[in-house]
Amino acid sequence: MLLQTVVLALGAASVGQAANSWIVPGAAWMSTSNTKIDAHGGMVYEQGDTFYWVGQSASHNEQAYMYTSTNLLDWTPASNPKNSIQYMWRPKVAKPNGSWWIYGQVDRNVQAMKATTIDGSYVLSGGKVTLPPSGYTYSDTGMFRDDADQTWYLLTSADHNTVQINRINADGTVGDRVNYLAKGAYEAPGMLKVNGIYYLIVSGKTGWRSNPNQVFWTDKLVGGSWNGPVGIAPEAEKTYNSQNTFELTVTGSKKTTYIYMGDSWDSKGGPDSNYVWLPITVDTSGKKLTLEYHAQWKIDVATGEVQVPSVKRRYEAEHATLEGRAAVARCEHCLNKRGVQKLHEGVVSFANVTGLGGPQWVQFHYRVPPSSDAEAWVSVNDGPAVNISSLNHRAGYHSVVPVQLDLIEGSENTISFGTNGGEGIVLDGIEVVED
Ligand SMILES: *[C@@H]1O[C@H](CO)[C@@H](O)[C@H](O)[C@H]1NC(C)=O
Ligand SMILES: *[C@@H]1O[C@H](CO)[C@@H](O)[C@H](O)[C@H]1NC(C)=O
Ligand SMILES: *[C@@H]1O[C@H](CO)[C@@H](O)[C@H](O)[C@H]1NC(C)=O
Repeated sequence: MLLQTVVLALGAASVGQAANSWIVPGAAWMSTSNTKIDAHGGMVYEQGDTFYWVGQSASHNEQAYMYTSTNLLDWTPASNPKNSIQYMWRPKVAKPNGSWWIYGQVDRNVQAMKATTIDGSYVLSGGKVTLPPSGYTYSDTGMFRDDADQTWYLLTSADHNTVQINRINADGTVGDRVNYLAKGAYEAPGMLKVNGIYYLIVSGKTGWRSNPNQVFWTDKLVGGSWNGPVGIAPEAEKTYNSQNTFELTVTGSKKTTYIYMGDSWDSKGGPDSNYVWLPITVDTSGKKLTLEYHAQWKIDVATGEVQVPSVKRRYEAEHATLEGRAAVARCEHCLNKRGVQKLHEGVVSFANVTGLGGPQWVQFHYRVPPSSDAEAWVSVNDGPAVNISSLNHRAGYHSVVPVQLDLIEGSENTISFGTNGGEGIVLDGIEVVED
């Protein structure tokens, strides 16, 4: 992170373009209607040029909500809710035979509903069912479509610690169990297939608290045995404070990119929950998956390529205006080996910050000591102080925390930063993203 290229000089052409759409793991993700995207435990389905994101709405009693996008970055609400059924957890969409189906967990059973268009109104199809062959109840729903036989598979974490894979029949009913994983207490299944190998990602069972998610693999979906588990991220990261929900494959003209979609739950799976999406690096010979961490990234859905911000203006904390007891100090990990500390008794203000006019991503480079529960806050143009953790759940967990701030056009913005408690926080600087 310290060696990143920072572009200080800007071509005139880039100023004024308000692209600024990014995938920011842990951050509050706003829709094109300026509402917080509310589709947790969900999945994304690609049809033609459009991506459909379905998930449970935490602020509407867990009804299935949908958003559409053509670039995986800007999402528009799609006439929500999709059905009046409430408390349907982890809805997943499939198209077994011409019609659209959503499957989710209701009262620890599978409930299916059906529509004639993917973003239409769904009607309940049959009652709640337990799963063949055992009649087990279960908690989480996942979805996978095998390109080999165009068949859809419902993944579930059944009770009795069984992750089941059931074929979805052409008539939409849940069919035979073709495989299952009985290697421990796992839930939140999702799957991807690379070079004929099926990778099953699951999380541990720790409620709304994150844990190190794991991957198992097999070369035969129907009846094959599972190898694993292997972690998909450094164990201490707890999957970057998230839980798996789905794996999305984006096949571009230059490369295929696999995307881990996780939920960054709040303490009770409520409306403050966010999302952690990251590209997955696949080691095909070692049969390992690793999440590729980026504080902020995007994908070009045409080429499949991943990009990170390249046009940023950086402002060093040691050159900013310091108030109270905030003081410049030597800092080994900081860009110029200098940062600002004692922020629990002072404030750093960056004056004359250039904005494009409107919401813009600003990356805060600061570290919170592991034992500290301190919060950092930000205030823009003398507005109210907002805790950074309420804008991005990665606050305190990563040294680069992007948040979206409303900046005025021109070079007269003031961004202030301080902390609530915690002596050890060191602010290195901020970077305002312009591409
Ligand atoms: C699949 O769809 C076709 C066309 O709508 C229909 O005729 C057929 O009955 C469906 N198959 C099943 C098993 O539902
Ligand atoms: C901000 O810019 C104005 C106009 O160029 C200048 O007078 C002022 O000193 C600058 N403030 C800071 C804190 O650099
Ligand atoms: C910000 O965080 C501090 C420390 O955790 C907390 O006391 C305060 O209530 C928070 N402020 C808001 C607006 O949530």
